[in-house]
Amino acid sequence: MSAGEESKFSLFSKKKNQSIDESSLKIPVHLGVIMDGNGRWAKKRMLPRSAGHRAGADNLKTLCKNCGHYGIKYVTVYAFSTENWSRPDSEVHALMELFVEYFEKYDPELEQEGIRVRFTGDIASLPTNIQEVCKRAEEGSKHRTRMTLIVAFNYGGRREIVQATQKLAERVAKGEIRSDEITEEMFAQHLYLPDVPDPDLIIRPSGEERTSNFLVWEGAYSELWFSDVLWPDFGMNELTEALVAFTKRDRRFGGLTKEEKKDRE
Ligand code: IPE
Ligand code: IPE
Ligand code: MG
Repeated sequence: MSAGEESKFSLFSKKKNQSIDESSLKIPVHLGVIMDGNGRWAKKRMLPRSAGHRAGADNLKTLCKNCGHYGIKYVTVYAFSTENWSRPDSEVHALMELFVEYFEKYDPELEQEGIRVRFTGDIASLPTNIQEVCKRAEEGSKHRTRMTLIVAFNYGGRREIVQATQKLAERVAKGEIRSDEITEEMFAQHLYLPDVPDPDLIIRPSGEERTSNFLVWEGAYSELWFSDVLWPDFGMNELTEALVAFTKRDRRFGGLTKEEKKDRE
């Protein structure tokens, strides 16, 4: 954006009442979003939980547009965890149906926005109709390059680590590698999406301050940001607030800050 050009989304910070200059924001390459709070959103409106999930799925479209606006390259959204199977059958069923419907309904819009779709999780254990939806959405969107939407579905960070360990154990058993040759880099190559960079920022709406088994390995050094807003209400202002917070973070990765490094020179 050129200097002095008006931002399309003029956001006023609650504290200082100053508009935010979008060009000064640090933009994460990879953003993770834990889409939580659908049930409470529905409860507040005396609606069934399934209505909350529907509103949450609709809001994913908004998130994609907003992330596209900021030029975020990868967005991973937590849609269904390996632990979510413990919910009542009717809710699990509604979530599966919504999943199928979503990729049929929104594909033309995803195409228009140039969004490639990928999935992460234990996809092979899902019902075959869901696996087919995943395959179709991935195949049909391969050529899109503006942004990659990664849907974490039947995803659990612990399961991902166990499955990577199984793949490595098989390679050791076959004599392809020795166990003492396994490095962090080699381990990461056996995770679900080894070519995707680690998330820089993980955000969770709904007031809960935990990661609930999301991107356990990949998120080891991610910045975390929490908001009380429920997922279906999470819009451009909340995303911008998260980016403002991220811009102020000093990512050290165990090293020193830029200032500390300068002081030592
Ligand atoms: C997130 O919303 C969606 C899924 C976990 C599938 P919830 O259903 O967890 O909503 P709350 O946390 O009960 O409000
Ligand atoms: C995390 O939300 C999983 C998803 C958003 C898909 P949950 O609602 O399942 O997490 P907990 O139970 O509050 O930790
Ligand atoms: Mg929840």
